[in-house]
Amino acid sequence: MLACVFILAVYGTLTIVETNGQSDFDWLTWKLVHQKIYSDVSSELIHRHIWEENYRLVQKHNANANATFTMELNHLADQKQRMHSLTVTLDEPILRFEHHLNNVPDAWDWRKQGCVGPVQDQGQMGDNVPIVATECVDSFHCTKTRNLVSASVVEMHDCCAKTPIASNHIFQCVHDIGGLCSTGDYPRSTGVCKNSTCQAVATVNGGKQVPTGDETAMKAAVYTTPVFALVDASHPSFQLYRAGTYIEPRCSSSMLDHALQVVGYGSASGVDYWICKNSWGVNWGMQGYIYIARNKGNMCGIASFTIYPV
Ligand SMILES: *[C@@H]1O[C@H](CO)[C@@H](O)[C@H](O)[C@H]1NC(C)=O
Ligand SMILES: *[C@@H]1O[C@H](CO)[C@@H](O)[C@H](O)[C@H]1NC(C)=O
Repeated sequence: MLACVFILAVYGTLTIVETNGQSDFDWLTWKLVHQKIYSDVSSELIHRHIWEENYRLVQKHNANANATFTMELNHLADQKQRMHSLTVTLDEPILRFEHHLNNVPDAWDWRKQGCVGPVQDQGQMGDNVPIVATECVDSFHCTKTRNLVSASVVEMHDCCAKTPIASNHIFQCVHDIGGLCSTGDYPRSTGVCKNSTCQAVATVNGGKQVPTGDETAMKAAVYTTPVFALVDASHPSFQLYRAGTYIEPRCSSSMLDHALQVVGYGSASGVDYWICKNSWGVNWGMQGYIYIARNKGNMCGIASFTIYPV
Protein backbone atom coordinates (compact mmCIF):
# COMPACT_ATOMS: atom_id res chain seq x y z
CA MET A 1 0.00 0.00 0.00
CA LEU A 2 1.20 3.44 -0.87
CA ALA A 3 2.44 5.22 2.19
CA CYS A 4 2.88 8.92 2.47
CA VAL A 5 3.64 11.28 5.29
CA PHE A 6 2.32 14.76 5.82
CA ILE A 7 4.47 17.06 7.81
CA LEU A 8 2.54 19.83 9.36
CA ALA A 9 3.69 22.81 11.31
CA VAL A 10 1.00 24.19 13.56
CA TYR A 11 1.73 26.96 16.00
CA GLY A 12 5.34 25.98 15.99
CA THR A 13 4.76 22.33 16.88
CA LEU A 14 5.46 19.58 14.44
CA THR A 15 2.82 16.92 13.91
CA ILE A 16 3.33 13.96 11.65
CA VAL A 17 0.25 12.38 10.18
CA GLU A 18 0.91 9.02 8.62
CA THR A 19 -1.65 7.97 6.09
CA ASN A 20 -1.99 5.41 3.38
CA GLY A 21 -3.74 5.06 0.03
CA GLN A 22 -6.85 3.39 1.40
CA SER A 23 -7.47 5.98 4.06
CA ASP A 24 -6.76 8.79 1.54
CA PHE A 25 -9.65 7.47 -0.50
CA ASP A 26 -11.85 6.96 2.57
CA TRP A 27 -11.05 10.48 3.80
CA LEU A 28 -12.08 12.02 0.47
CA THR A 29 -15.27 9.98 0.43
CA TRP A 30 -16.06 10.82 4.04
CA LYS A 31 -15.50 14.56 3.40
CA LEU A 32 -17.84 14.41 0.42
CA VAL A 33 -20.56 12.49 2.24
CA HIS A 34 -20.47 14.86 5.22
CA GLN A 35 -19.84 17.98 3.13
CA LYS A 36 -16.80 18.97 5.11
CA ILE A 37 -14.94 22.07 4.03
CA TYR A 38 -11.96 23.30 6.04
CA SER A 39 -10.75 26.86 6.09
CA ASP A 40 -7.17 25.98 5.14
CA VAL A 41 -4.69 23.15 4.76
CA SER A 42 -3.46 23.15 8.33
CA SER A 43 -7.02 23.07 9.67
CA GLU A 44 -7.78 20.14 7.40
CA LEU A 45 -4.72 18.27 8.59
CA ILE A 46 -5.65 18.74 12.24
CA HIS A 47 -9.07 17.26 11.59
CA ARG A 48 -7.63 14.57 9.36
CA HIS A 49 -5.33 13.52 12.18
CA ILE A 50 -8.27 13.10 14.58
CA TRP A 51 -10.21 11.29 11.88
CA GLU A 52 -7.27 8.88 11.33
CA GLU A 53 -7.31 7.94 14.99
CA ASN A 54 -11.04 7.37 14.86
CA TYR A 55 -10.65 5.41 11.63
CA ARG A 56 -8.39 2.89 13.38
CA LEU A 57 -10.61 2.82 16.46
CA VAL A 58 -13.76 2.08 14.45
CA GLN A 59 -12.06 -0.62 12.37
CA LYS A 60 -10.73 -2.33 15.48
CA HIS A 61 -14.05 -2.12 17.32
CA ASN A 62 -16.14 -3.39 14.42
CA ALA A 63 -13.77 -6.34 13.90
CA ASN A 64 -14.51 -7.58 17.43
CA ALA A 65 -17.21 -10.20 17.07
CA ASN A 66 -18.06 -9.91 20.78
CA ALA A 67 -19.11 -6.29 20.57
CA THR A 68 -22.82 -5.69 21.20
CA PHE A 69 -22.83 -2.47 19.17
CA THR A 70 -21.14 -1.07 16.08
CA MET A 71 -19.33 2.21 15.51
CA GLU A 72 -18.98 4.35 12.40
CA LEU A 73 -17.14 7.36 11.03
CA ASN A 74 -20.10 9.69 11.38
CA HIS A 75 -20.16 13.48 10.96
CA LEU A 76 -18.37 13.88 14.30
CA ALA A 77 -15.41 11.69 13.32
CA ASP A 78 -13.08 14.64 12.67
CA GLN A 79 -13.67 16.15 16.08
CA LYS A 80 -12.06 15.46 19.40
CA GLN A 81 -14.36 14.08 22.02
CA ARG A 82 -15.57 17.15 23.81
CA MET A 83 -14.58 17.69 27.39
CA HIS A 84 -17.77 18.86 28.92
CA SER A 85 -18.95 18.83 32.44
CA LEU A 86 -22.26 19.40 34.08
CA THR A 87 -22.94 20.58 37.57
CA VAL A 88 -25.61 18.43 39.10
CA THR A 89 -27.60 19.91 41.94
CA LEU A 90 -29.92 17.83 44.06
CA ASP A 91 -32.34 19.96 45.98
CA GLU A 92 -34.59 18.53 48.63
CA PRO A 93 -37.40 18.03 48.87
CA ILE A 94 -38.46 16.29 45.70
CA LEU A 95 -41.45 14.02 45.39
CA ARG A 96 -40.51 10.45 46.07
CA PHE A 97 -40.83 7.74 43.51
CA GLU A 98 -43.96 5.70 44.19
CA HIS A 99 -44.94 3.42 41.36
CA HIS A 100 -46.36 -0.04 41.38
CA LEU A 101 -43.74 -2.30 39.95
CA ASN A 102 -46.19 -5.01 38.87
CA ASN A 103 -47.99 -4.87 35.56
CA VAL A 104 -45.11 -3.12 33.85
CA PRO A 105 -44.65 -4.66 30.38
CA ASP A 106 -41.33 -6.27 29.35
CA ALA A 107 -40.93 -3.85 26.47
CA TRP A 108 -42.27 -0.36 25.84
CA ASP A 109 -41.69 2.38 23.26
CA TRP A 110 -43.34 5.81 23.55
CA ARG A 111 -42.50 6.51 19.89
CA LYS A 112 -45.19 4.01 18.93
CA GLN A 113 -47.70 6.08 20.93
CA GLY A 114 -46.80 9.22 18.98
CA CYS A 115 -45.53 10.92 22.13
CA VAL A 116 -41.91 11.58 21.12
CA GLY A 117 -40.99 14.61 19.02
CA PRO A 118 -38.41 14.75 16.22
CA VAL A 119 -34.71 14.31 17.02
CA GLN A 120 -33.05 17.68 17.63
CA ASP A 121 -29.60 18.73 16.51
CA GLN A 122 -27.97 20.82 19.20
CA GLY A 123 -25.12 21.73 16.85
CA GLN A 124 -21.58 21.80 18.09
CA MET A 125 -21.97 19.81 21.28
CA GLY A 126 -22.42 21.92 24.38
CA ASP A 127 -25.06 21.49 26.99
CA ASN A 128 -28.34 19.83 26.01
CA VAL A 129 -30.08 19.85 29.41
CA PRO A 130 -32.79 22.38 28.34
CA ILE A 131 -33.48 20.44 25.12
CA VAL A 132 -34.05 17.11 26.87
CA ALA A 133 -35.98 18.62 29.78
CA THR A 134 -38.33 20.32 27.29
CA GLU A 135 -38.74 17.07 25.35
CA CYS A 136 -39.86 15.46 28.59
CA VAL A 137 -42.50 18.16 29.14
CA ASP A 138 -43.74 17.71 25.53
CA SER A 139 -43.92 13.94 25.95
CA PHE A 140 -45.55 14.11 29.37
CA HIS A 141 -48.24 16.42 27.99
CA CYS A 142 -48.80 13.88 25.20
CA THR A 143 -49.16 10.95 27.62
CA LYS A 144 -52.06 12.88 29.20
CA THR A 145 -53.68 14.40 26.11
CA ARG A 146 -52.33 12.40 23.11
CA ASN A 147 -51.42 15.77 21.68
CA LEU A 148 -47.70 16.29 21.06
CA VAL A 149 -46.75 19.97 21.41
CA SER A 150 -43.39 21.65 20.91
CA ALA A 151 -42.69 23.72 24.02
CA SER A 152 -39.99 26.39 24.06
CA VAL A 153 -36.46 25.18 24.81
CA VAL A 154 -35.47 28.83 25.19
CA GLU A 155 -38.04 29.34 27.93
CA MET A 156 -36.81 26.17 29.64
CA HIS A 157 -33.30 27.56 29.46
CA ASP A 158 -34.18 31.09 30.60
CA CYS A 159 -36.47 30.03 33.45
CA CYS A 160 -35.62 26.54 34.69
CA ALA A 161 -32.46 25.04 33.24
CA LYS A 162 -29.73 27.65 33.24
CA THR A 163 -26.67 25.90 31.89
CA PRO A 164 -24.50 24.06 32.64
CA ILE A 165 -26.52 22.99 35.63
CA ALA A 166 -28.85 20.03 35.90
CA SER A 167 -31.17 20.34 38.87
CA ASN A 168 -33.70 17.81 40.04
CA HIS A 169 -36.07 20.74 40.51
CA ILE A 170 -36.41 21.42 36.78
CA PHE A 171 -39.97 20.10 36.54
CA GLN A 172 -41.06 21.72 39.80
CA CYS A 173 -39.81 24.98 38.29
CA VAL A 174 -41.85 24.39 35.12
CA HIS A 175 -44.87 24.02 37.38
CA ASP A 176 -43.99 27.17 39.33
CA ILE A 177 -43.74 29.35 36.22
CA GLY A 178 -47.12 28.14 35.00
CA GLY A 179 -45.92 25.75 32.27
CA LEU A 180 -44.07 26.36 29.01
CA CYS A 181 -45.14 28.37 25.97
CA SER A 182 -44.77 27.01 22.47
CA THR A 183 -41.50 27.35 20.57
CA GLY A 184 -42.97 30.05 18.33
CA ASP A 185 -44.59 32.13 21.07
CA TYR A 186 -41.74 32.59 23.50
CA PRO A 187 -39.46 35.56 22.72
CA ARG A 188 -35.84 35.24 21.67
CA SER A 189 -33.47 34.47 24.51
CA THR A 190 -32.38 37.34 26.69
CA GLY A 191 -31.33 35.08 29.53
CA VAL A 192 -34.20 36.46 31.62
CA CYS A 193 -37.31 34.43 32.32
CA LYS A 194 -40.27 35.94 30.44
CA ASN A 195 -42.93 33.39 31.30
CA SER A 196 -45.65 36.01 31.47
CA THR A 197 -45.30 37.19 27.86
CA CYS A 198 -47.09 34.18 26.34
CA GLN A 199 -49.66 31.48 26.98
CA ALA A 200 -48.40 28.08 28.23
CA VAL A 201 -49.13 25.08 26.00
CA ALA A 202 -47.93 22.39 28.37
CA THR A 203 -47.56 22.18 32.09
CA VAL A 204 -46.69 19.68 34.80
CA ASN A 205 -47.48 19.28 38.49
CA GLY A 206 -43.86 18.86 39.52
CA GLY A 207 -41.09 16.30 39.20
CA LYS A 208 -39.98 12.99 40.62
CA GLN A 209 -36.64 11.27 40.76
CA VAL A 210 -35.85 7.59 40.31
CA PRO A 211 -33.89 6.23 43.30
CA THR A 212 -30.28 6.35 42.16
CA GLY A 213 -29.23 3.23 40.30
CA ASP A 214 -32.62 1.50 40.60
CA GLU A 215 -33.32 0.25 37.08
CA THR A 216 -36.47 -1.61 38.13
CA ALA A 217 -38.00 1.60 39.44
CA MET A 218 -36.78 3.38 36.32
CA LYS A 219 -38.56 0.86 34.11
CA ALA A 220 -41.84 1.64 35.89
CA ALA A 221 -41.14 5.38 35.54
CA VAL A 222 -40.44 5.12 31.80
CA TYR A 223 -43.67 3.19 31.35
CA THR A 224 -45.42 6.21 32.94
CA THR A 225 -43.73 8.89 30.81
CA PRO A 226 -40.43 9.44 28.95
CA VAL A 227 -37.73 10.45 31.46
CA PHE A 228 -34.70 12.75 31.60
CA ALA A 229 -31.41 10.98 32.30
CA LEU A 230 -27.80 12.08 32.55
CA VAL A 231 -25.05 9.77 31.31
CA ASP A 232 -21.29 9.56 30.87
CA ALA A 233 -21.03 10.21 27.13
CA SER A 234 -17.36 11.12 27.18
CA HIS A 235 -16.00 8.11 25.29
CA PRO A 236 -15.21 7.92 21.55
CA SER A 237 -17.42 4.82 21.39
CA PHE A 238 -20.38 7.07 22.23
CA GLN A 239 -19.43 9.83 19.82
CA LEU A 240 -19.03 7.31 17.00
CA TYR A 241 -21.86 4.96 18.00
CA ARG A 242 -23.80 3.51 15.11
CA ALA A 243 -26.21 0.76 16.24
CA GLY A 244 -26.78 -2.00 18.79
CA THR A 245 -26.73 -2.08 22.57
CA TYR A 246 -24.11 0.24 24.01
CA ILE A 247 -21.81 -1.31 26.62
CA GLU A 248 -18.70 0.69 27.52
CA PRO A 249 -16.67 -0.89 30.33
CA ARG A 250 -14.80 2.39 30.87
CA CYS A 251 -18.03 4.27 31.49
CA SER A 252 -18.53 5.97 34.83
CA SER A 253 -21.85 5.97 36.66
CA SER A 254 -21.03 9.19 38.51
CA MET A 255 -19.13 11.43 36.04
CA LEU A 256 -22.19 12.46 34.08
CA ASP A 257 -21.82 14.93 31.24
CA HIS A 258 -24.71 14.58 28.83
CA ALA A 259 -28.52 14.42 28.88
CA LEU A 260 -30.70 11.89 27.03
CA GLN A 261 -34.44 11.34 26.88
CA VAL A 262 -35.28 7.72 27.71
CA VAL A 263 -38.42 6.89 25.72
CA GLY A 264 -38.70 3.13 26.20
CA TYR A 265 -36.95 -0.15 26.85
CA GLY A 266 -36.65 -3.67 25.49
CA SER A 267 -34.31 -6.63 24.99
CA ALA A 268 -32.44 -8.14 22.07
CA SER A 269 -30.52 -11.45 22.07
CA GLY A 270 -30.80 -11.63 25.84
CA VAL A 271 -29.37 -8.13 26.36
CA ASP A 272 -31.71 -5.57 27.91
CA TYR A 273 -31.57 -1.95 26.75
CA TRP A 274 -32.99 1.51 27.27
CA ILE A 275 -34.23 3.33 24.16
CA CYS A 276 -32.53 6.72 24.42
CA LYS A 277 -33.06 9.78 22.28
CA ASN A 278 -29.98 11.92 21.71
CA SER A 279 -29.89 15.47 20.32
CA TRP A 280 -27.09 15.20 17.77
CA GLY A 281 -29.35 14.97 14.71
CA VAL A 282 -30.80 11.99 12.85
CA ASN A 283 -27.47 11.11 11.22
CA TRP A 284 -26.03 10.03 14.55
CA GLY A 285 -26.63 6.48 15.86
CA MET A 286 -29.90 4.80 14.96
CA GLN A 287 -31.77 7.74 13.39
CA GLY A 288 -30.64 9.81 16.35
CA TYR A 289 -31.21 7.11 19.00
CA ILE A 290 -28.95 4.88 21.06
CA TYR A 291 -29.77 1.73 22.98
CA ILE A 292 -27.91 1.79 26.30
CA ALA A 293 -27.53 -1.50 28.15
CA ARG A 294 -30.16 -1.98 30.86
CA ASN A 295 -29.74 -4.01 34.07
CA LYS A 296 -26.00 -3.99 33.50
CA GLY A 297 -24.92 -2.27 36.69
CA ASN A 298 -26.27 1.19 35.84
CA MET A 299 -24.35 1.41 32.56
CA CYS A 300 -22.86 4.88 32.02
CA GLY A 301 -24.95 6.16 34.90
CA ILE A 302 -28.22 5.88 33.01
CA ALA A 303 -30.11 5.50 36.30
CA SER A 304 -27.93 7.82 38.40
CA PHE A 305 -29.80 11.08 37.82
CA THR A 306 -33.16 10.25 36.32
CA ILE A 307 -36.04 12.66 36.73
CA TYR A 308 -39.44 13.02 35.12
CA PRO A 309 -42.52 15.21 35.24
CA VAL A 310 -45.65 14.22 37.07
C1 LIG B 1 -14.68 -12.75 22.79
O1 LIG B 1 -15.26 -13.59 23.78
C2 LIG B 1 -14.55 -14.80 24.00
C3 LIG B 1 -15.36 -15.67 24.95
O2 LIG B 1 -15.81 -14.92 26.07
C4 LIG B 1 -13.16 -14.47 24.54
O3 LIG B 1 -12.42 -15.66 24.75
C5 LIG B 1 -12.42 -13.57 23.53
O4 LIG B 1 -11.19 -13.17 24.08
C6 LIG B 1 -13.26 -12.36 23.21
N1 LIG B 1 -12.61 -11.61 22.13
C7 LIG B 1 -12.36 -10.30 22.22
C8 LIG B 1 -11.70 -9.68 21.03
O5 LIG B 1 -12.64 -9.62 23.19
C1 LIG C 1 -44.34 33.41 35.91
O1 LIG C 1 -43.54 32.83 36.91
C2 LIG C 1 -43.75 33.33 38.22
C3 LIG C 1 -42.78 32.64 39.13
O2 LIG C 1 -41.46 32.88 38.69
C4 LIG C 1 -45.19 33.10 38.64
O3 LIG C 1 -45.43 33.66 39.92
C5 LIG C 1 -46.15 33.67 37.62
O4 LIG C 1 -47.47 33.32 37.95
C6 LIG C 1 -45.82 33.14 36.23
N1 LIG C 1 -46.66 33.78 35.22
C7 LIG C 1 -47.57 33.10 34.50
C8 LIG C 1 -48.33 33.91 33.49
O5 LIG C 1 -47.77 31.91 34.64
